Amino acid sequence: MKNTTRHLKRVTAAAAVTLAAFSLSPSAASALPGGGSGGPAGEPGTQVVGGTPAEQGEFPFMVRLSMGCGGSLLTQDIVLTAAHCVDGSGENTGITATAGVVDLEDSAAVEVNSTEVLQAPGYDGTGKDWALIKLEKPIDQPTLPIAGDDSLNNGDFTIAGWGADKENGDQQRYLLKAQVPFIDDATCKSAYPNLVEGEELCAGKLDTGGVDTCQGDSGGPMFRKDDADKWVQVGIVSWGDGCARPGKPGVYTEVGTFAADIKKAADSLGG
Ligand code: ARG
Repeated sequence: MKNTTRHLKRVTAAAAVTLAAFSLSPSAASALPGGGSGGPAGEPGTQVVGGTPAEQGEFPFMVRLSMGCGGSLLTQDIVLTAAHCVDGSGENTGITATAGVVDLEDSAAVEVNSTEVLQAPGYDGTGKDWALIKLEKPIDQPTLPIAGDDSLNNGDFTIAGWGADKENGDQQRYLLKAQVPFIDDATCKSAYPNLVEGEELCAGKLDTGGVDTCQGDSGGPMFRKDDADKWVQVGIVSWGDGCARPGKPGVYTEVGTFAADIKKAADSLGG
């Protein structure tokens, strides 16, 4: 990825926290999806970045992290997220994972604190954008298996998150979901010459834009059904130039490439 883009990615984690602090406060409720009877100027019920609200229980493995990122349950007490969402490895009791709800303000939300963070070994801001967060106790929700190779890197993927619903938009109270098509590396390289092929995977509507993950979705999963009709995680929200711009797809950590490393790391956390 380009240096400018990388810088953009680095600063967004902090920006996402600020946005979260704003838009999740009760006073911002009117800006939230479903908060009004029709929606502002757009089509009713359709959010930006092409998303729509997820059903309660539809993606039970989704986790919201307190630093303003997404994540997924790799095991019931280990969250898979992005390396750029965390600050190195080691003991860390400062992260809270919220799970079990689409509405972050639902009183049924399960909140569990972290005990340890493991950032991808050798992570330097380019590629390898994955990390694990060990939780102090298990969360009683289904986990999301990760792809073991690149055989599912095709077709349409599901993305979901509580991040911004448009470029520079507010963080969301309700989980949004959307579908984005796979983009092959050669095509994606024309948008992003510094794409780390083999470590990064692109998805989005290249011609039109309009559907994408955005700031605050980082660390969350990109997933699809396998041949057995089960959800499998193929990507981790990593970066992009703006959000949902034509010609600028979303870039995701290629989970299949790192599956063995991720499993080994999870074992080392006692997962
Ligand atoms: N880096 C962003 C974050 O920290 C995610 C950006 C994803 N951007 C995109 N256009 N798909 O939340």
